Amino acid sequence: MVSRALDVLLLGPPGAGKGTQAKRIAAAFEVLHISTGDMLRDEVAKGSGLGQEAKEYMNRGDLVPDALVGKMLTKLLHSRRGALGCVYDGYPRTTAQEALLEDLLAELNRRVDVALYLDVPDRELLARITGRRSCPSCGAVYHVATQPPRTEGVCDACGTTLVQRDDDKAAVVRERLKVYRKHTAPLLKLYEDRGILREVDGAVNPDEVFKRLREAMGSIGK
Ligand code: AP5
Repeated sequence: MVSRALDVLLLGPPGAGKGTQAKRIAAAFEVLHISTGDMLRDEVAKGSGLGQEAKEYMNRGDLVPDALVGKMLTKLLHSRRGALGCVYDGYPRTTAQEALLEDLLAELNRRVDVALYLDVPDRELLARITGRRSCPSCGAVYHVATQPPRTEGVCDACGTTLVQRDDDKAAVVRERLKVYRKHTAPLLKLYEDRGILREVDGAVNPDEVFKRLREAMGSIGK
């Protein structure tokens, strides 16, 4: 458990393992897991106005506009002021989002403590994403080859039928990778300049990635 709020960013391209590792970090440090992708998918599933608007961008591999995502994040952080910190999975993705996060954390007398970048070669990303299967009910994530569920197509945790995300088709994934390189990868330099970027090889097995992430965090969060 952390003695003061801990705010950790997980950065990396689509399929780098941000969601997989964010869940582990959240459990280990007892911080809130914030996945803007999961939040947007929830809105799509509910059929809300935000979900209907976001769906079009998501299904073609584009970023949802900053203003929409920013509103969602602001509401969440304001409602969870008492949290011991957060691990941000998929946020920020643009410089405008980065500025908003900084402002929101400053209001809470907090700041980003560390930005963890998962480095995975492109050839592996496509295989990971196209083989991913997700549980629409509890959010558990599997891979048909490397992390299959005990019963094919069924979530180990809650028994729900697994699905392939609409944006996990190869053509959309290629677009997501392009968008990542254009809008999100430049943020790495910003965190490097602040001295809080830690790069970790994300192309090893998930247990090893987690071990290396913890090592890269050093005394942060202890
Ligand atoms: P989002 O859901 O955030 O997607 P993403 O960033 O593209 O990342 P992924 O969820 O695809 O991958 P991941 O890195 O989490 O990997 P995972 O752990 O699942 O966003 C989706 C869309 O929502 C965006 O395109 C955009 O439209 C919109 N959006 C979201 N946030 C936004 C924002 N802030 N602003 C604007 N728009 C936003 O792992 C992938 C697979 O690999 C799994 O099958 C897993 O089992 C497997 N795997 C994981 N780790 C390993 C390992 N070490 N070895 C082998 N396999 C592994």
